[in-house]
Amino acid sequence: MKYQYTNEFRHNLVEWFNNEKRDLPWRRTADPYKIWVSEVMLQQTRVDTVIPYYNRFLEKYPTIQDLAYAPQEELLKMWEGLGYYSRARNLQAGVKEVVEKYDAVVPDNRHDISKLKGVGPYTAGAILSIAYQKPEHAVDGNVMRVLSRVLHIEDDIAVPKTRKVFEEAVEMLIDEEHPGDFNQALMDLGAMICTPTSPKCLLCPVRDYCIAFSEGDTDKLPVKSKKVKTKKVQFKVFAARDHQGRYLLEKRPSEGLLADMWQFPMIEVTENSISEDTFQQNYNVEITAIIDKELLKFKHIFSHLTWEMDCMLVGVEQNMVLHENVKFLSVEQIKSLPMPVPMLKILNVLN
Ligand code: ADE
Repeated sequence: MKYQYTNEFRHNLVEWFNNEKRDLPWRRTADPYKIWVSEVMLQQTRVDTVIPYYNRFLEKYPTIQDLAYAPQEELLKMWEGLGYYSRARNLQAGVKEVVEKYDAVVPDNRHDISKLKGVGPYTAGAILSIAYQKPEHAVDGNVMRVLSRVLHIEDDIAVPKTRKVFEEAVEMLIDEEHPGDFNQALMDLGAMICTPTSPKCLLCPVRDYCIAFSEGDTDKLPVKSKKVKTKKVQFKVFAARDHQGRYLLEKRPSEGLLADMWQFPMIEVTENSISEDTFQQNYNVEITAIIDKELLKFKHIFSHLTWEMDCMLVGVEQNMVLHENVKFLSVEQIKSLPMPVPMLKILNVLN
C-alpha cells in the first residue's frame, strides 16, 4: 500500500489527540493490568457506561493478584450489567496465567500476550501500544471506519479476514514514537469525529489526507454487509413467591449464554404445552395463587438473540426437594447474586 501523506497524517492526528483527548480514568495509568481491564470492558461497551464499572472494579481488585483469586460469583456481580459475561471469566483466566506463569508481569510482546485467555489481536495491540509503547496495531470497529475513509478501503468490515487489511494499514501509518497515542487517537477520532453517520469532517484534523472526504464518499464507507436478523424466543417467566416472601431462583449452567448467572425460572413458550404446567413439573412446586398475571412484559435484545419476556407473579408451595441450583431466596439474598439485566428488571418490580 502506498500513501504519500503518511508523515503529515500521523503528525496531525497525534497532535489533535494531545489537545482534544477525552479525560478517561484508564488514561491516567501506565499499569498494563489496568489498561487490560479497560480494554476488555470497552469491547462491545460504550465509554460512558464503562467508566463507573472500571472505577469500581479497580477499587475492588487494585492488583493483578486481587483479580486472579477473586471468587467467581463476586466477579460476575462486579460485571453485572456490562453484558458479555464471558469477557469477565476470560479476563480472570488470563490474569491468573500472568500471575502464575509470568510472575504477575504482563508480557510485553505479541507472541506471549496473545496466548493468554481472552486476549485477541485487538486487546494485545492495545495493551502493547498503550502500556508498553510498542508500535503494534490495535484495530477495532472505530479504527476500521476511520481508515476505510482515509484510505478509501472498500473491503467488507463485517468479514473477519478484512481486519488484516486494516492491521497492515496501521503498521504503515503508526507513529513509532507515540504508538499508544496514535492508536487511541484513531479510536477517539472514530468516536468523536469520524462517526458512523454524519461525520464531523469540518472538525477533522486529517480531513486533508482523507480520500473519502475529497471524493465525497464518506457516507459510502465503511462497506459493511448487513447481519442476519436475530432470533426471537418467547418465555413465560415466573416470579414465584413462597409463604415467607422468598422467591424461587435458579443458577444457569456453567457453559453457554449467561453462564453461572442467576435467574427467575423461565419456560420457553411452545405451541403444544402449557407453561404453568411445565414450570410446576420442572421445578417441583405447585402454583397456589396467581397474584399478577401481567407483572411485566418486555423484550431483551442480545447481540444474536431476542428474549420476549412475559412475567407473572405467583404464589407457590414446594412439593418435593428442589433441584441442585434451584433455591428459595429472600430479596436481600437475591440482590447479592449476579443476575442478567432482564432478570434485574423483574427483581426491580418486586420491591
Ligand atoms: N475504545 C477501546 N479502547 C479505547 C481507548 N483506549 N480509548 C478510547 N476508546 C477506546
